[in-house]
Amino acid sequence: MMAVESALQPAYPALLEALEVHRDAEGGLLLIPVQGKLRRAAPGQERVSHLPYRAEGYLLDYLAELDGARSRAELERRFNERYGPLFGPPLAARCWEFIEQYRGRLFEIRATPQETPNPPRVTGSPEAYFPVHATLEIIETCNMTCDHCYYSSSPDKTGKMSLDDAVIMMDRLAAGGVRVIELTGGECTIHTDFVAILEHACRTFDIVAVLTNGYRLGTSDKIWNAIRSKDNLMVQVSLDAVGERHDRFRKHPRAYEAAIRAIERVVSAGIICRVASSISEENLDQVEELYRTVKALGVDKHSFAAVAPHGRGCNNTEAVGAAELVRKLNERLAVFGRDERLYDTPVQSQHGTSEPPHNCGAGARTIAVDQQGYVRACNFSRDSKKLGNLLHEPGEAIFGQQASFFFANAPSPGGRDCLGCDYYLHCRGCFVKAFMVSETTFPACPWRARWFPGMSLGLDDFQSRLTSSQSAKSSKFDACPERAPRDLPTICGAHEDDLEYAAHPGRGHARSSAAKLHLRVV
Ligand SMILES: C[S@@+](CC[C@H](N)C(=O)[O-])C[C@H]1O[C@@H](n2cnc3c(N)ncnc32)[C@H](O)[C@@H]1O
Ligand code: SF4
Ligand code: SF4
Repeated sequence: MMAVESALQPAYPALLEALEVHRDAEGGLLLIPVQGKLRRAAPGQERVSHLPYRAEGYLLDYLAELDGARSRAELERRFNERYGPLFGPPLAARCWEFIEQYRGRLFEIRATPQETPNPPRVTGSPEAYFPVHATLEIIETCNMTCDHCYYSSSPDKTGKMSLDDAVIMMDRLAAGGVRVIELTGGECTIHTDFVAILEHACRTFDIVAVLTNGYRLGTSDKIWNAIRSKDNLMVQVSLDAVGERHDRFRKHPRAYEAAIRAIERVVSAGIICRVASSISEENLDQVEELYRTVKALGVDKHSFAAVAPHGRGCNNTEAVGAAELVRKLNERLAVFGRDERLYDTPVQSQHGTSEPPHNCGAGARTIAVDQQGYVRACNFSRDSKKLGNLLHEPGEAIFGQQASFFFANAPSPGGRDCLGCDYYLHCRGCFVKAFMVSETTFPACPWRARWFPGMSLGLDDFQSRLTSSQSAKSSKFDACPERAPRDLPTICGAHEDDLEYAAHPGRGHARSSAAKLHLRVV
C-alpha cells in the first residue's frame, strides 16, 4: 500500500514546532520543545528546552526526513527503501497517522512544498546509545577536603581538563546528542578557565548545571557575574549541616557562611537553585533543622542523600551501614511528607509504591567524563570501567558496545532480584552502588548476574587492594581504598526534574496521547 496521494491533492508535511529526534539502538526520543523556566524571575524570557518522549525507531526515522519540502509520497518512497516492501508500507501508514493526529499542534500539512527545507535536528545513532545528558568533571582539585568525598578531592590534587580539551569534548557531546550538561569536579569554580568553560557550555547545551560547594559564588564577584548573566543555568550548592557543623563536615572554617551567601545570591537572581545535602551518622541529627533552614532560603529543590562508601566516603560508612543510614534518613524525612521540593530522596521515591525505582539512565542516557576524557557510566564510579575516551575514540565505539546494551536495558536495582537483600536500601535505584557491592562484598548478587552477565567493571585493582588492606588493617572501613585507582567521581543524571518546564500548549496533548501512541515519557 503505497502512499495515496492524488495529483490534485499533494501533501507536504512540515514541522510547526522545532522537534528534535534522538536515535538509539532500540528506538529513541522525540524531543518536543517547551519553554524551560530556568529563570524564574523573567517570565516570557525562558529558554526553549525539550520534553523527551520515548518512541519507536521507525517513527523517528520517518520524522527525521520530514522537512516541509518532501511530499508524503517522497517520504514514503524513502521510508520503504529503508524498511522494505513487507514492513515499509504499514509502518509508513502508522507514521502518517501520527502526523495527522498532531496536525495543527506539531505538524501542518501543506499543498505546496516549503521553499526552504526545515528538517528536525537529528542526533544519536541506531547503532549505539549516545547519551542526552553528561557530567563533565573539569577538575580534580578542591578548596575543601570533605571526609565523605567520593572523588577524594582536596587542594593537593592536581588533575584538570584544559580549556581546549573541554571545548572539544563539549562539542563532541553536543554533536552526539547531549542536551543537558553538569559541570563538576572537584570544585569546578576553582578551575582557572571556569568562566570560559561555562560560557562555552551555556552556548552549546540547552541546560547547564553547576555543581558547587558554593564558596566562590559567595566570595568571587567574577564567578558570580559569569553565573548571573546566563539564562539556561541551574546551580546546585552543597549544604550538609547547619552553622559550624557544616564547616566541620567540609573541613573549612567559612564553608557554611559562603554556601549560605551563594544560595541567597542564586535564589535572589531568579536562577533555579538546588541544595544537595550529604548525610552520614555525623550530621543525621540535623536533618530536620537543615530542611527548615533550606526551605526558608526559598530554594527550588532540596536533595538528601546518604553518604555512599566510595572514595573517602569509605571513611564514613560501608554498604550495609549505608543501607541502615538510608533507613534512618527515610524515617526523619517522612515527617515532611510529599514535599515537591524534596528531590530524588529515598523517601520520595518510595512514597506509596513498591515499584522498583526508575532506571537513572547511567551508562546509556547519561554518562560521566573525567579530566582526561575517559567516559564512565556515572560520576560516582570513579574507579570503574572506562567505556572509552572521548578525546581519542569515535562516539560509536564508546556508546555502541555490549556494555551500553546492558546499561540501557538493565532495570535499576531494587526490583524483584533484590527483595530481602541486606544491601537493598543502599543499592536501590543506583547501578553504581550495586556494582560496587557486587564486585566487592557480594559477588553472588543476583541483580548483577542477571543483567550484566560476564561484564566486569574493571575493579580487579580495587579487589586486590581490598584484600591487602584487609589483611594489613582491622577496621571494617579500611576495606575501601582511600583513593580510587585511577582518579576519577555525582549526582545521578538525566532526571526530568533537572528540566523545569513552564506550561506549554502542546505538552498536555503530547502527554495524554503518548500512551495511545506507545510513546513512553522518560
Ligand atoms: C563531588 S561533589 C563536587 C561538587 C562540589 N565540590 C560540591 O561539593 O558540591 C558533588 C556532590 O557529591 C556529594 N558527595 C560527595 N561524596 C559523596 C558520597 N560519598 N556520598 C554521597 N554524596 C557525596 C557532595 O556532597 C556534593 O553534593
Ligand atoms: S565533596 Fe565537593 S567540596 Fe567536598 S572535597 Fe569533594 S569535591 Fe570538594
Ligand atoms: S547487592 Fe545485588 S541483590 Fe542486593 S540489593 Fe544490591 S543489586 Fe540488589
